[in-house]
Amino acid sequence: MVTASAPGKVYLFGEHAVVYGEPAVPCAIERRARVTVEERDEGLRVHLDDLTLDGFTIEYSGDATGRPDVNVSESLVEAGVGYINEAVEQARDAADAPDAGFEISVESSIPLGAGIGSSAAVVVGVIKAATAELGIEIDAREVAERAYRVEHTVQDGEASRADTFCSAMGGAVRVEGDDCRRIEGVDTLPFVIGYDGGAGDTGALVAGVRQLRSEYDFAADTVEAVGDIVREGERALQAGDLSELGELMDFNHGLLSALGVSSRSLDGMVWAARDAGALGAKLTGAGGNGCVVALDETDATETALSYTPGCENAFRAALDTEGVRIE
Ligand code: MEV
Repeated sequence: MVTASAPGKVYLFGEHAVVYGEPAVPCAIERRARVTVEERDEGLRVHLDDLTLDGFTIEYSGDATGRPDVNVSESLVEAGVGYINEAVEQARDAADAPDAGFEISVESSIPLGAGIGSSAAVVVGVIKAATAELGIEIDAREVAERAYRVEHTVQDGEASRADTFCSAMGGAVRVEGDDCRRIEGVDTLPFVIGYDGGAGDTGALVAGVRQLRSEYDFAADTVEAVGDIVREGERALQAGDLSELGELMDFNHGLLSALGVSSRSLDGMVWAARDAGALGAKLTGAGGNGCVVALDETDATETALSYTPGCENAFRAALDTEGVRIE
């Protein structure tokens, strides 16, 4: 039996624009998905536990290819099972063991579909644990590559390498098309996260931006401007200039809002963070519903968010410099 864990992530800058070849800077956070895998004679048995943040438990037990016995939203479970099935296929392929069967248990403290990398962390964890269980050691870059193929398949081609690369490698990373690398020398960032309890529909949100971008030149210019923010932000990150990083996060949120992917609850949390003195705040991930990320070295933002209407949970989640690992 092998257990692997992989971190979730926030986007410091660049979500959505990364889909069109602009750079993005996602950062791994200290919230992990833990995946335990044991080989069995054939087939798959999957247990998904506690896949949301505060005690809302998905009890899933069943054949991953059949109908699960579940007591929660089937679409959430189906999404999770789809990712796990494809991740298992990648592990079988890496180990040249097409018929390998597995018992898989997932525990995660990363809310599903909330913009902080739940599916990528689970996929990365499954690939690492299942290959290790089959006696194969693959490095973090190969895990990232295989995890990207999983997201690409499950999300019908609408996936960048950002989430999976960040979860596999850890730390702050830069992704631009197929060029993915760690940004060295960034050891700590004071992230505070606000979660509205909801989930965004990534496919629909990406499609909405694609439509705007093809309809209006100024929407295409907005996507390019996000790329400019990322390039400027990288310089601020390397210089350790937190106040400039915050200013650029605010700007990035404004452009995401203009592209139609924010919402009342996300805007409300962003403003609550800014009012509390955060250096900057923005939505993270696809948007719609889910999470915002703020930069604050004090406790003020976390406290303010915890009293903000529409914010279900506020927590600190520092940069995690470690990516996927065997536990
Ligand atoms: C979703 O976490 C981030 C998006 O940029 C889509 C992607 O990069 O695959 C919206």
